[in-house]
Amino acid sequence: MRVVIAGGHGKIALLLESLLTERGDQAVGLIRNPAQVADVQKTGAEAVVCDLEAASAGDVAALLSGADAVVFAAGAGPGSGVPRKDSVDRAASVLMAGAAERAGVRRFVQISTMGAGQPPRPGTDEVWAAYIAAKTAAEDDLRSRGLDWTVLRPGGLTDAPATGLVRLAAPPVPRGTVPRADVAAVIAALLDDAGASHQTLELTSGDSPIAAAVRGVS
Ligand SMILES: NC(=O)c1ccc[n+]([C@@H]2O[C@H](COP(=O)([O-])OP(=O)(O)OC[C@H]3O[C@@H](n4cnc5c(N)ncnc54)[C@H](OP(=O)(O)O)[C@@H]3O)[C@@H](O)[C@H]2O)c1
Repeated sequence: MRVVIAGGHGKIALLLESLLTERGDQAVGLIRNPAQVADVQKTGAEAVVCDLEAASAGDVAALLSGADAVVFAAGAGPGSGVPRKDSVDRAASVLMAGAAERAGVRRFVQISTMGAGQPPRPGTDEVWAAYIAAKTAAEDDLRSRGLDWTVLRPGGLTDAPATGLVRLAAPPVPRGTVPRADVAAVIAALLDDAGASHQTLELTSGDSPIAAAVRGVS
């Protein structure tokens, strides 16, 4: 399977690239900073420089030619302001999904966040509100398309080692945290399971082995 990962130098993306290449899949990481090429290649993945805030749908569709799946793992990240929540967390996902349709790549896993899909809590600061609005709009866009989409909403991300044990279910899942390494392993399993398409799933640490958790939602 050839999997193109938007935001290919992200923390989850690098973990996912390693998992995919270890199991014999081809991973391609889209990055905007050429200085990150070596890190992506170290995982066994191919690195392609593509700034998702500057590329056209045609540019991205060409990069997706021959791919079997797309993972949207990009994000404006901490320290970014309102405009980049919209240009990355919403618009780059919309760009990738449109390009996937154009290129005929049906499988699309989007990393969203718990909290998306509902209005931000009263008193939320404007950057968090813009982030939630951007993730919600990206989810809505993806669900409206004729793709085999899965929206994955992790809880708070940690850099703790993988546990292999999660709680994965349709919303609402009680709030919690989850190691990025477990998120990457869940995505790798979701890519292998067409039954998980057309679902919005929330993810925290839990007590189900990942393979069983993914089978349970398929
Ligand atoms: N933090 C949390 O607790 C939490 C909880 C739930 C969900 N999430 C979401 O989970 C996702 C992945 O998390 P993570 O920790 O792996 O993220 P991360 O390490 O911040 O990675 C995001 C990646 O997106 C890339 N990116 C930004 N703008 C780009 C552009 N214009 N073109 C191409 N790539 C671009 C960044 O590259 P640069 O190095 O070039 O900036 C970065 O490598 C994010 O969407 C995040 O919002 C986070």
